[in-house]
Amino acid sequence: MAPKFHTLIVSDIHPESDDSVAVSFDIPAALRADYAFQPGQYLTLRTNIDGQDARRSYSISSPLGAVQLTVGVRRVEDGVFSGFVNDALKVGDTMKVMTPEGRFCAKTGTPARYLLLAAGSGITPMMSIAVSTLESDPKAEVTLVYGNRTTESVMFRTKLAELKDRYMGRMVLIHILSREEQDVPLLNGRVDAAKITALVNVGAIDPKGVDAVFVCGPGEMIDNVCKGLTDLGVSKDKLHFERFTPADGSQPRPAASHKAVQAVAHGASVEVILDGVRKSFHLVDAEENVLAAAQRNGLDLPFSCQGGMCCTCRCKVVSGTAEMAVNYSLEKWETDAGYTLACQTRATSDKLVLDFDAS
Ligand code: FES
Repeated sequence: MAPKFHTLIVSDIHPESDDSVAVSFDIPAALRADYAFQPGQYLTLRTNIDGQDARRSYSISSPLGAVQLTVGVRRVEDGVFSGFVNDALKVGDTMKVMTPEGRFCAKTGTPARYLLLAAGSGITPMMSIAVSTLESDPKAEVTLVYGNRTTESVMFRTKLAELKDRYMGRMVLIHILSREEQDVPLLNGRVDAAKITALVNVGAIDPKGVDAVFVCGPGEMIDNVCKGLTDLGVSKDKLHFERFTPADGSQPRPAASHKAVQAVAHGASVEVILDGVRKSFHLVDAEENVLAAAQRNGLDLPFSCQGGMCCTCRCKVVSGTAEMAVNYSLEKWETDAGYTLACQTRATSDKLVLDFDAS
């Protein structure tokens, strides 16, 4: 089913570092099934800020089965949404919250051994993955390497320390700080390929010996760390990552292909299927993506990042052909199966049919 927004009440707001808060939402009993989630998934929050409809995705930090869902929101420089959440949002306010999405998920309930590599607010899904994994099986083990600028900027610092104490012997927690000297030189710097190699060399982590490695943080960190891990011989099958920003965000998006330009010149039409309802519209600009064209025609399709990263706009090409400007989230098997990201999709045929209900 396509994701849906429901209006939820903010039940708690709690500072989690010098520049972030954890925001919790009560889930009414009637909506619990809709908000059941897998550790690692995210919520898209939507509200009106200064007359503008704004939305952002934030990972769930709650353990599996929680009936109150919590997300971590770090203040981003010039970030309108994160600034609103950190400065203006109050307990008792309501917000539109999309049902959980995302495929950066960890399997729980098994004696799994996971290595979690996080930077900054990339810790949020790791909180959920770590707690859920350790709680769900008495033999499960988690090693978390977490990079920040300073101790004060460490999100969920107290909760992480409590978690480590609670699961002594099954959880290893390694803090890496870039702007605060620690006694052990190895713990200074950033979470990058060189640091991973150094930690492997002293036996602090064993990425080849674990069942899966989860990486979450800015795009550059993910690309660098994943390359470092594969250079160390870690199988790509074991690697799972979720990026907040594209590594090449400063680069221009590729222009529409000749086929896309031709399709629009021929009056290309797009039909979308959402919740079983079909709606059609025409494309008028080859550079305009399907999501933007749908919005221009008054259609409310699911989306969040609009940057090819979150997958909220994932749909399936069931007729016609299409291309994507960029894709930072769909895997090869998905593109091979015809899945595409509406926020990046341009039609390359005169008629394109996209199914948002395809699972
Ligand atoms: S809206 Fe995030 S990938 Fe399209």
